Amino acid sequence: METVMFVDDEKCILDALRRSLRDMTKEWDMYFVDSGKDALEIIKSIHMDVIVSDMRMPGMDGAQLLMEVMRISPFTARFILSGQSDREAVLKTVGPAHQFFSKPCDIKKMKDIIRNALALRHCLCNEELTGAISRIESLPCVPQIYLDISNELQKSEVSLERVANLVQADLGFSTKILQIVNSSFFGVPNHISDIRQAVIYLGIDIIKSLVLYVKVFHEFCSKEIPRGWLEDLMDHSLAVAKFAKIIITSGPHDKNDLDNLFTAACFHDVGKLVFFANMGKKYQETCQYMENRHCTETIAEQAIIGITHPEVGAYLIALWGLRDIIVETILFHHNPSHCYYNNYNILPILHFCDCFYYEIHPDKNPHPESSMPLDMEYLEQAGVLESLPAWRALLEKNEGITHG
Ligand SMILES: [Fe+2]
Ligand SMILES: [Fe+2]
Repeated sequence: METVMFVDDEKCILDALRRSLRDMTKEWDMYFVDSGKDALEIIKSIHMDVIVSDMRMPGMDGAQLLMEVMRISPFTARFILSGQSDREAVLKTVGPAHQFFSKPCDIKKMKDIIRNALALRHCLCNEELTGAISRIESLPCVPQIYLDISNELQKSEVSLERVANLVQADLGFSTKILQIVNSSFFGVPNHISDIRQAVIYLGIDIIKSLVLYVKVFHEFCSKEIPRGWLEDLMDHSLAVAKFAKIIITSGPHDKNDLDNLFTAACFHDVGKLVFFANMGKKYQETCQYMENRHCTETIAEQAIIGITHPEVGAYLIALWGLRDIIVETILFHHNPSHCYYNNYNILPILHFCDCFYYEIHPDKNPHPESSMPLDMEYLEQAGVLESLPAWRALLEKNEGITHG
């Protein structure tokens, strides 16, 4: 049985939830708790798959509670239930909460969202995967500077100045960020010479993802990783992020989708970095396996290591507390049709851009005969099949590719 906890200091709300969720008792083991303190006590001894907490509660409020849950039980899905008037307070939970439900809440919608969160956790927390991950010696930690920027974003008045200062505090690091911003990557019209300008030009969320990208890829590498291999992986990840950004911004889009897609693209192959840093030799055996059997990368990883790079990457990103939508986009980037719900705004774009990169850089593909195929059936289902020629033309134009 899956475990789901509801926390609210108002007894009538807990009673209403209990009544309207009665039909779920066969699927979920539910806990109804009236304070943050009691909720934490229970979570210390019973694993909770999902927690839904009220925002305003005496003593410990919802944001504080979810922050603590994130620390002691990172795989618990965290939701805030709040009244419309709590806008500002809700903003405080942007980091610790995966999603918000507004009061009065639509029970059917809440059930669907909780089911999705449970399905994702089911994919990530099965024994096979967690067993294989526990044998991996070291996983990169979420960098302090990323947490600092996330904290800044939770304040009611976000200061660009303070975000820029955080990045600038480390000179070598901010130079690397500026190098990327000024490279052909973003196509900025004029040279950007300081972080503050970069934050204004690209937005805090994109800078936040870049900060995470540079920290993780530069700092989590061992001597075992050949420089060329690491550079290729970094170039590929950033190029896919650039392609994805070009496609999503070419039409009407939601800013959250852009930010989530960009982050997912930067980290879609981070699982490979974890493999190489921890088991370089064994990971290299997967290449031999692919060559001998002409199978795809993920089939080879499954056979040799027992888990795949999308699984390890998604697990890591979930552990860092990033949003579910980013986690599942990474998890299904090689086999999008396995995604259990319609993540059609961003997953099709990442899947397409990942394949497109090797189409235009065949020299970067060490195993062209084992390439991940574009899942046309999925793209049709997602309703983007007709957009593919336009997407391709857009990216080719950007890359200066001409035909005939
Ligand atoms: Fe991949
Ligand atoms: Fe990739």
